[in-house]
Amino acid sequence: MSGAVAVILAAGKGTRMRSKRAKVLHPICGRPMLHTVVETVRRAGAERIIVVVGHQAEEVKAACAGLDVEFVLQPQQLGTGHAVAQAEPLLAHYRGPLLVTCGDAPLFRPQTMADLIECHRKSGAAATVLSALLEDPTGYGRIVRHAATGRLLRVVEEKDATEAEAAIREINSGTYCFDAPSLFAALREVQPVNAQGEYYLTDVLGVLVQAGRPVEVVVAPEPREVLGVNSRVELAQAEAILRRRIVQEWMLAGVTVVDPDTVYIDPQAVLKEDAVILPFTFIRGRSVIGEDARIGPHAEVEDSEIGAGAVVERAVVRGSRVGPGCTVGPFAYLRPGTVLEAQSKAGTFVEIKKSVVGPGSKVPHLTYLGDATVGKDVNIGAGTITCNYDGFGKHPTIIEDGAFIGSNTNLVAPVRIGAGAYTGAGSTITRDVPPGALALERAEQRVIEGWAARKREKSKPQEAP
Ligand code: UD1
Ligand code: CA
Repeated sequence: MSGAVAVILAAGKGTRMRSKRAKVLHPICGRPMLHTVVETVRRAGAERIIVVVGHQAEEVKAACAGLDVEFVLQPQQLGTGHAVAQAEPLLAHYRGPLLVTCGDAPLFRPQTMADLIECHRKSGAAATVLSALLEDPTGYGRIVRHAATGRLLRVVEEKDATEAEAAIREINSGTYCFDAPSLFAALREVQPVNAQGEYYLTDVLGVLVQAGRPVEVVVAPEPREVLGVNSRVELAQAEAILRRRIVQEWMLAGVTVVDPDTVYIDPQAVLKEDAVILPFTFIRGRSVIGEDARIGPHAEVEDSEIGAGAVVERAVVRGSRVGPGCTVGPFAYLRPGTVLEAQSKAGTFVEIKKSVVGPGSKVPHLTYLGDATVGKDVNIGAGTITCNYDGFGKHPTIIEDGAFIGSNTNLVAPVRIGAGAYTGAGSTITRDVPPGALALERAEQRVIEGWAARKREKSKPQEAP
């Protein structure tokens, strides 16, 4: 099933999106639509992928950095046929199957495309087009078949269709497999004589049929796969389909998703067996959710690793690593560079940035830790703040193993709290505390006996004389 080359058409503006941004760069499930298409064709067996760029070519190329694809420029958007023709110089000596698809069709399953390539190879056709039967074919090219034989005659675009043709419910998915030399030869015969004045790729099929070459049609098993995104309404529909599919795959792989309708999992995320995802939860980017971890309700985990058995409840976790058995939240915010080691805790109204919290250490409530390194079995009292920023630079705080930070301590960085040391509640610590010591920084308490009664007496409203 290997050895195919794929061409992805991505040069169009996407006028119907009404956007400053090229259509193929609009995100779907957390990444540009085009990434999804590139991944699909690669998984379908494409060993070489050529992306035709034009509108916002530089932005599209930049967005594909690291995807291992080649680019060819279509300087003017003269139609899908013209777009494919631009790839010819790169394929001069190529004789195998050429998969062609659109950058605005992100819902194809790799298997559907792999089956298309396989059918094409087996039949030895000059072209094989993937079609679908839709309840509402509006907007798509229609598959016109011979009344008697049922063989494909041509594809007609909606704007060029007669009333009878427009009534056809079998549509062109925009994905094809071609014999490369036959495709490029046929493209030379395509003329822009149609309602849009464009060079239609679809006309190639009619040209090949006219020349007596074998052209096959494969009907997509799941019609929703062919949905092309032309407007933002269709973008949302496509995202909903893709999202549901991803969630379903994880459920089949052993993850519990209590309410699939309110769970969002990006395609690059990985979830381990018996993880539980509670409602209104987002697993974004390249996150990894460990075995038996429980995420949600109302949690957002982005580009983070959550260890086995950890609990993340009503929290936002970005660019962080949460160790096994940790608890995060409710109402915690872990910012990039945070590491919670095994069995540690970031509790209620806690914000942690670029800090390491050692194994078994607890940050239970109302705390900000920034640029801190916390050892093991440390307790951080409620209201503790690392004062890590002096208006010019960020400074580190080090809290060694077994230290006890009293409630409402301000740790003015750079500062180090030695192993097993204590800070008194309410202290502002500006100097290092040696191991085992108590650091206390607060005014002596004064007690003024009888003060309250005198205050009340003085403040009483005076009676009128
Ligand atoms: C196209 C097909 C239609 C099919 C539908 C499936 C043609 C003529 N029509 O219509 O039969 O049912 O897809 O979704 O092929 N593009 C370029 N350069 C261009 C024009 C377009 O690269 O000059 C790219 C676009 O970026 C897009 C793709 O080709 O990714 C399809 O173009 P679009 O204008 O959306 O074609 P449709 O009208 O949807
Ligand atoms: Ca389209």
